[in-house]
Amino acid sequence: MTDIQELLLSHIRDVADYPEPGVMFKDITPLLADPAAFAALTDALAEVGTREGATKVVGLEARGFILGAPVALRAGLGFIPMRKAGKLPGATLSQAYELEYGSAKIEVHAEDLSADDRVLVVDDVLATGGTAEASVQLVRRAGAEVAGVAVLMELSFLGGRERLERILAGAPLEAM
Ligand code: PRP
Repeated sequence: MTDIQELLLSHIRDVADYPEPGVMFKDITPLLADPAAFAALTDALAEVGTREGATKVVGLEARGFILGAPVALRAGLGFIPMRKAGKLPGATLSQAYELEYGSAKIEVHAEDLSADDRVLVVDDVLATGGTAEASVQLVRRAGAEVAGVAVLMELSFLGGRERLERILAGAPLEAM
């Protein structure tokens, strides 16, 4: 394990049976409260965007906003919020996706992405991959290219990587 992985891991708190019994919740608030750890994470995520020639950073509501905004600033790129349905005031594109129980929808302002853009998608956790998959579909429907997906951590036992790599067409999925 690298120094940064140790630093990040030591600032993530496992909370058992939250938000429901049987689920081990990954709480990133200790990491956010530590400026050295938060800065190290921001730098590592921003490096992926720089390396892949990204032109924009898309953050996924809500924790993807907390990480994505400083990453965009660090990489010198614009930040584009991808929000849960009904929160953006302008003309939007929306993408529905399945959750374990029920379904959800994310949206982006159509004018925020164009064919000139290569997008780094940033989120905190990759679990089943449903949210990230929907974000990739939305980026492409907006006419832009996906430069990569960068997350703080993946829960590999849920198979999100396999699901996402099937549609990423060679773009990287990076977990710190
Ligand atoms: C969590 C997490 C990811 C998503 C991962 O978000 O922040 O966005 O779930 O799960 P998946 O890979 O199975 O799709 P959540 O919807 O709980 O929203 P929050 O960030 O607003 O808490």
